[in-house]
Amino acid sequence: MAQSPSCAKLYAAPGNPGIELYAECVPISVDDIDGLIAFVKAHAIDFVVVGPEAPLVAGLADRLRTIGVPAFGPSAAAARLEGSKGFTKDLCARASIPTAAYVRCTGAEEARTVLEGFAIPVVIKADGLAAGKGVIIAETREDAEAAIDDMFDGAFGSAGAEVVIEEFMIGEEASFFALSDGKDVIAFGSAQDHKRVGDGDVGPNTGGMGAYSPAPVLTAELETQVMDRIIRPTVATLAAEGTPYVGVLFAGLMLTAEGPKLIEYNCRFGDPECQVLMMRFKGDFAALLHAAATGTLATAEPPAFSRDYALTVVMAANGYPGTPEKGGAIRGIADAEAGGVRVFHAGTARDDRTLVAAGGRVLNVTATGKSVTVAKARAYTGVDKLDFPSGFCRRDIGWREVAREAE
Ligand code: AMP
Ligand code: GLY
Repeated sequence: MAQSPSCAKLYAAPGNPGIELYAECVPISVDDIDGLIAFVKAHAIDFVVVGPEAPLVAGLADRLRTIGVPAFGPSAAAARLEGSKGFTKDLCARASIPTAAYVRCTGAEEARTVLEGFAIPVVIKADGLAAGKGVIIAETREDAEAAIDDMFDGAFGSAGAEVVIEEFMIGEEASFFALSDGKDVIAFGSAQDHKRVGDGDVGPNTGGMGAYSPAPVLTAELETQVMDRIIRPTVATLAAEGTPYVGVLFAGLMLTAEGPKLIEYNCRFGDPECQVLMMRFKGDFAALLHAAATGTLATAEPPAFSRDYALTVVMAANGYPGTPEKGGAIRGIADAEAGGVRVFHAGTARDDRTLVAAGGRVLNVTATGKSVTVAKARAYTGVDKLDFPSGFCRRDIGWREVAREAE
């Protein structure tokens, strides 16, 4: 955003020590909708990009539009694409969008009966927002029943008041992005994330331990299929139903033997997918998002991306994805960034003058190269120059593509 010629002044709420170099940080939390609206009015803000899902689901974009301020991000009604898995599955059913077979359940007894109709493994999902943790892939019927009981017993709070039971799909996963202004929609690149905490894709699921872009498994032909069968019908259906989608659609896809199928939607740029997309994006990002927010994507300059690959390695605090260790000192960012590496901040804070860890995923060490193999080597050179003793990372980000490039 700060690099956009159209952006004269950038504020971030609440921001962190990384974005503080490019934006003026204001101490308003993302769920303080009234506080954000008051700030926008007081500073005559021209345009708001809503990053995370919680304020979108809470209606921040609607509130901004009500006061006449363009917002990049869906209304609360359209943000149900991320806020309710059952909503998205029903939309797929109405619009014949390929996705896993499913049944929505509102009680444990009903869910146990429904479960009998599914093969094992089976996927059990809490309907609402659960910070990426509300999905259980059950390898046995007992595990599936336990997951159902946990969800209805409140393991994910109100997110688990409804549960979706889904057929388990087999294939490679990839992420696809598109920008929508409510009627027109344009492709915005692809990426591949690494969800498990450990090398070799083992251990618990996380928000993402590293990513690269583009994802070569999503060939041009597959991207066309995804746009035609998944993205465009989603945008058209939401528009026809009076809840147009404005913002970025982040489609989590399973590339199955029958073609790409939708796993889920996010209504925001992913973390760490956004970091690799931004390393490759060329042009005026703020102007493009503004065009989406004001219904003028059809006449906007189409997005252009570098042909290089970008790869990012997440540095997490020890303990993540359980309880991360807070307050660990971080040094060496300038060294790590020498030679074209970019270190994005996620959960960082300042303790006096020392940069410290303040969350689960702390930094994203990001590099580009002519191949995933080269981008990976550069990113890990950066990682190795960081001095963050209470942190860790996966050492194999990009392994699928590195193996394919070696063939
Ligand atoms: P989600 O939060 O919906 O993206 O799910 C988290 C992860 O669970 C996905 O990235 C997939 O690895 C896996 N997953 C979710 N749904 C399915 C499914 N129906 N079949 C196979 N894997 C799934
Ligand atoms: N990395 C996946 C997400 O942001 O949800």
